[in-house]
Amino acid sequence: MSETKDTLSITDNRTGKTYEVDVTDETIKAMDLRQIKVNEDDFGMMTYDPAFTNTAACRSSITYIDGEAGILQHRGYTIEELCEHSTYLEVAYLLIFGELPTEPQLERWTYDITHHTFVHEDIKTMLEGFRYDSHPMGMLLSTVGAMSTYYPDANQIDNPFERYMAAIRLIAKMPTLAAFSYRHSLGLPYIYPDNDLSYAGNFLGMMRKMTELKYEPDPRLERALDVLFILHADHEQNCSTSAVRAVGSSQVDPYSSVAAGVAALYGPLHGGANEAVLRMLRRIEKVENIPDFLKGVKNRDEKLMGFGHRVYKNYDPRARIIKKHVDEVLDVVGLDNPLVKIASELEKQALDDEFFTERKLYPNVDFYSGLIYEALGIPNEMFTVIFAIPRTSGWIAQWMEMNGDSEQKIARPRQIYTGKRDLTYVPIADREGEEKIVGPPATRPIKSRRGA
Ligand code: CMC
Repeated sequence: MSETKDTLSITDNRTGKTYEVDVTDETIKAMDLRQIKVNEDDFGMMTYDPAFTNTAACRSSITYIDGEAGILQHRGYTIEELCEHSTYLEVAYLLIFGELPTEPQLERWTYDITHHTFVHEDIKTMLEGFRYDSHPMGMLLSTVGAMSTYYPDANQIDNPFERYMAAIRLIAKMPTLAAFSYRHSLGLPYIYPDNDLSYAGNFLGMMRKMTELKYEPDPRLERALDVLFILHADHEQNCSTSAVRAVGSSQVDPYSSVAAGVAALYGPLHGGANEAVLRMLRRIEKVENIPDFLKGVKNRDEKLMGFGHRVYKNYDPRARIIKKHVDEVLDVVGLDNPLVKIASELEKQALDDEFFTERKLYPNVDFYSGLIYEALGIPNEMFTVIFAIPRTSGWIAQWMEMNGDSEQKIARPRQIYTGKRDLTYVPIADREGEEKIVGPPATRPIKSRRGA
């Protein structure tokens, strides 16, 4: 029997040379390829991986996903067990500190978060500067970034106390910023946090409280929202987490890094998908229109939003858990929502269709989360904002892990240059060329929804 080794032999057919590189965790180091050269002046071999589809950028012990099997675990615990037995704040502690808290630890953690929920009054002035119809995600993005100016000591990223305070403040204030953005978009007065309420209950209160002296959330809605928070807390190296890590690798403060995460989450292919799902369901309008809609998806005229995932090539386990809560929430609010029927039938027809099964496209977390928010009476624009609230604990856990990782440096990918080189400079009078700029010149009146 031939002897096996944890190495990979690579033969460069350009030179006939063979190289041996180590294989660790079924991975080779991209830098080990740099020794592969045609001649001494050669830069060396690189890997080309747009969108990082096959590149591990870090070692992480926070979240484990087996996309083929549809498994999601945080620090070793299954998402199903965490949703069944824990609160969101317990899971946030688990993500950040690596272990489930003891009772006194959870008490201190909850106390610290509950007592940092207020934001500086100037934030309200900042929000007043936004137009009444501004997207709340844009407002959240700006106000989270602005927090670095209120807590300048947060730039001491190697100071454990400052790191802890930033974690507490971000987790505590995110619901306040989110709810203030929402109230601003409705022209309603801001509601201050209530320390008697749970994390999820307080958020519901800040969104919904009107003239009542005390807001009392329905415990079933409060729990459904808390479970949604658990489900969205972390998902390893997704677009927004990678953004937090990449920006954080410049050693900027954590508020600025998290603002980068919020920006990435804003996009329709990431956190914006749940909003897009609702728009899609409304456009489909009725169950009878589903076959035509799916035909359009297969013709690539549109996408089936809430389906497909870079990592899950099986049913997203988070979608399965959420689905259970949809009916429960609809029961509480007493709503017979036609969009739920369209969603269930759409899921059924898509899962019966080879186009989707061949490509392993299954519902993801966003397919059903939007329906719960809808049932809670939350407008579409707030969906991604609500995603950002719990994801903050994941971003912080990942940011802390990155800062303690001696293998990390400032993130700086390479490129393959495809442009021209060594041109002779042409004076402006001698230049010719096609018009490149699109649209009318800015001096002409531009017709837009918001004016010039
Ligand atoms: N509808 C129709 N076709 C799809 C869809 C979809 N939702 N998703 C993927 N495909 C097709 C895609 O066109 C491709 O087909 P082909 O091989 O014939 O060209 C094939 O499936 C593989 O897709 P991909 O684009 O290579 O997959 P990806 O890993 O690059 O993209 C994704 C993953 C999530 C961006 C994509 O599935 C998508 O755009 N889904 C809709 C948006 C969505 O629901 N996003 C939320 C993700 S879950 C929340 C989160 O964790 O952020």
